[in-house]
Amino acid sequence: MADTAVTLSLQSRFRDAMAGVCSPVAVVTSRDGDRPHGTTVSAFMSLSMEPPMIAVALDHGSDLLAAVRAHGRFGVNVLAAPQHDLAGAFARKGAAKFDGVSWSDSHGVPKLADVAGWVACEATEFVVGGDHTVLFGTVVEADGGVDRPLTYFARTFGTHLPHEVPLPQGAVG
Ligand SMILES: Cc1cc2nc3c(=O)[nH]c(=O)nc-3n(C[C@H](O)[C@H](O)[C@H](O)COP(=O)(O)O)c2cc1C
Repeated sequence: MADTAVTLSLQSRFRDAMAGVCSPVAVVTSRDGDRPHGTTVSAFMSLSMEPPMIAVALDHGSDLLAAVRAHGRFGVNVLAAPQHDLAGAFARKGAAKFDGVSWSDSHGVPKLADVAGWVACEATEFVVGGDHTVLFGTVVEADGGVDRPLTYFARTFGTHLPHEVPLPQGAVG
């Protein structure tokens, strides 16, 4: 009983610590048969340059994860600052997440309109980490620029703003 209380308290402290990390936000997409499917994800990163690879962490219960296993490809749609409504819509469960959403097919996976960045991948490895699976993808197409990104920090959406004046040397924040 006492162990459970300690575990829960550690989880909640860990959750709070991670809420202080500013994350990018993407809609990761694939296909479930003929139907496009997508999920909002902040746990993704550039993994390798030679060859270009990306890593995405998905909950074992994610329907997108099952779709990627079957289809073999996925796309990472890096959201732009105004696209917080898309982030909310794709964080739900179900088959209707693409209703009313503009998208096109690119390299066999759905690319959303007006995203800040786009990466299409061949799924190469599925590595279990606790209650998530880390999906490794080899990049087959990428484009994007320096549009302001959508970010997630302290459980709210926002964006990045550069410092107007450079920080003095040795400053910590
Ligand atoms: C800002 C934000 C970031 C999220 N990041 C992740 C993530 O990195 N990995 C994950 O599995 N779920 C993440 N989620 C939760 C999924 O979007 C959510 O569980 C979704 O309903 C899963 O749908 P699916 O079963 O169709 O894949 C995030 C949600 C939000 C709002």
